[in-house]
Amino acid sequence: MVKYVLTGADGNLGSVAAAHAIEIVNPEDELTFTTYKLDAISPETLETWTNKGVNVCVATYDDVESLKAAFAGAEAVSMISTWLFGEGRRRQASTVIEAAKACGVKRICYTSFVGAGIQAEKEEDIPFLPRDHHVIENLIYASGLDYSIQRNYLYADNIPSLFAPSWKFCGERWLTNSHGQAGAYVAREDCSRVMAALLLGKGEPNTVYDITGPEAVTNEQVFNWMSSQSGYQGELVDLPDEELKQWWLDHGLPTDFFGDFSQLPMKLCIGDLLCCGEMVADGHMKNTSDNVEKLTGRKPIPFQEALLKYKDIFPKA
Ligand SMILES: NC(=O)c1ccc[n+]([C@@H]2O[C@H](COP(=O)([O-])OP(=O)(O)OC[C@H]3O[C@@H](n4cnc5c(N)ncnc54)[C@H](OP(=O)(O)O)[C@@H]3O)[C@@H](O)[C@H]2O)c1
Repeated sequence: MVKYVLTGADGNLGSVAAAHAIEIVNPEDELTFTTYKLDAISPETLETWTNKGVNVCVATYDDVESLKAAFAGAEAVSMISTWLFGEGRRRQASTVIEAAKACGVKRICYTSFVGAGIQAEKEEDIPFLPRDHHVIENLIYASGLDYSIQRNYLYADNIPSLFAPSWKFCGERWLTNSHGQAGAYVAREDCSRVMAALLLGKGEPNTVYDITGPEAVTNEQVFNWMSSQSGYQGELVDLPDEELKQWWLDHGLPTDFFGDFSQLPMKLCIGDLLCCGEMVADGHMKNTSDNVEKLTGRKPIPFQEALLKYKDIFPKA
């Protein structure tokens, strides 16, 4: 019997990973799912999990003892980065690594991000979004634990859920800084299934996998397709990075995650917003890989299919 621990099983990424882990786990092996707040899990989901023999426990990345209780006897554990940027996120990763080592866990899985492998003299020269992931990957390598790392490309899901809500506010425009380049946006659910697969030992240990969509597409292609689905009449306007930054600063967008977003339809801070365009513009997402299919047995989902489930929130005419 081998024990596997999936942390963050209640979240966007973790909940789909949890469902897939249940599907693919060997019957003789054991799954533990953790959440840091039990009430984030519906009674129906909790019942499904427990009926399938999953242990569910409360553990937080902020408390090493709670993690140790969950990790005891585990062969492999997975860690999802939270939305805390910078110091907090890095401290949480160190706490998970510390707990894993203390419990004799052999392998750690991590949901990293495209560009985390960028090498630079100074940390500030690594683009904003992969910066923490770069540091956390290095913490994992230095830990001596075996690892399975997935570097997720930007989710296709971000476009309807994080960008489209601002189009009206921007004067019926998607203001972007991807500069006409194409990126292989990935369906978040593919990332989730990869996460479950890696946790349960698929793939090669001590390997980093780029997790991509099936083809590189421009923001304009996605925008035009979404508009064709909903009859939306807007335009995509590409701006130089500095102009886009200034536009959002002028409209009160916070520069960090802890600012006040309550009056704005945009929930990404300046650095996050700009970096999404930068990752595509600089070609970090131009290549595709077959890792989704290799690890999950399914072809990566095209963006159209990934976005259809958000059709109700597509901006309308
Ligand atoms: N590739 C991309 O395009 C993209 C886009 C957005 C985000 N991301 C990255 O992916 C990560 C996951 O994003 P997501 O939207 O998929 O979010 P998510 O599934 O909600 O991932 C965060 C998980 O961490 C949990 N968590 C938060 N604080 C915790 C703590 N102190 N201890 C233990 N667990 C904690 C969350 O629980 P609750 O849900 O209960 O808070 C959630 O399960 C983000 O943090 C970010 O690094 C990537």
